[in-house]
Amino acid sequence: MSNNLLKGKRGIIFGALDEQSIAWKVAEECVAQGALITLTNAPVALRFGQLDALAEKLNAEIIPCDATSIEELENLLTKSMDILGGKLDFILHSIGMSVNVRKKKPYTDLKHDWMQKTFDVSAISFHKLMQSAYKLDVMNEWGSILALSYIAAQRTFPDYSEMAESKALLESFARSFGYHWALKNNVRVNTISQSPTMTTAGKGVKGFVDFFDYAEKMSPMGNASAEDCAKYCVSLFSDFTRMVTMQNLYHDGGFSNMGMSPAILEK
Ligand SMILES: NC(=O)c1ccc[n+]([C@@H]2O[C@H](COP(=O)([O-])OP(=O)(O)OC[C@H]3O[C@@H](n4cnc5c(N)ncnc54)[C@H](O)[C@@H]3O)[C@@H](O)[C@H]2O)c1
Repeated sequence: MSNNLLKGKRGIIFGALDEQSIAWKVAEECVAQGALITLTNAPVALRFGQLDALAEKLNAEIIPCDATSIEELENLLTKSMDILGGKLDFILHSIGMSVNVRKKKPYTDLKHDWMQKTFDVSAISFHKLMQSAYKLDVMNEWGSILALSYIAAQRTFPDYSEMAESKALLESFARSFGYHWALKNNVRVNTISQSPTMTTAGKGVKGFVDFFDYAEKMSPMGNASAEDCAKYCVSLFSDFTRMVTMQNLYHDGGFSNMGMSPAILEK
């Protein structure tokens, strides 16, 4: 059902790889709610992902962009304004990748040059994106910038490895840059801390399926789905949340405030 919450708004969605991707669902929901969007992903992901199918379905253009490259980010931002016909109202950063997790390095034996790559892709890209958007003045007054995070930024989840520090950095960039965006033109910047979700990035974490089941039982409402996350993103892009900024917002069915769950003890 559409309430046209984003009617007349323009935005960019990063990170839709396949139908499981959270960004895929967000893109679908934004368009269903009346937004005009461009889609983007790293050139390598465009080769093996399925973004073409989504672009066709949503009648949206794809602009390749490695989010660690300022040059490619600037190109993406200017082209998006050209294609969409004006300044932007929202941006979703839905990007995560850990080299050490991918190569199965234990946390006590990480390669630090890989760690730097992880931070660059998963967190510093958010600062690079916001800095490029700030300098090019691409955001409309009362716009909204969002990134996706995970509770490992606050609590220890051993198998999440260096992604925990990536998310802590990501959330900190939202607070720090949120201040400057608020002063510039009332643009809000937030992170959504999402439940474990069955996606390519999610399933890359060791023991993910067991952990997904554990979180499902620990959360009184169960895990929040990617579809629900998409709806939450739309609310944060809409005009109903204009004064929410510099926050990390849990979207997790209650997981973050639980201490003990009888459902787990019974198991
Ligand atoms: N899946 C979960 O359990 C979960 C939970 C909380 C938060 N998140 C976060 O949600 C976001 C989206 O992940 P997802 O679960 O939908 O998985 P996904 O694998 O579908 O999405 C990750 C995306 O990052 C993109 N990416 C990687 N390197 C890039 C680069 N250099 N430039 C541009 N894009 C690049 C990938 O191509 C992919 O599209 C990530 O930030 C992830 O950490 C996921």
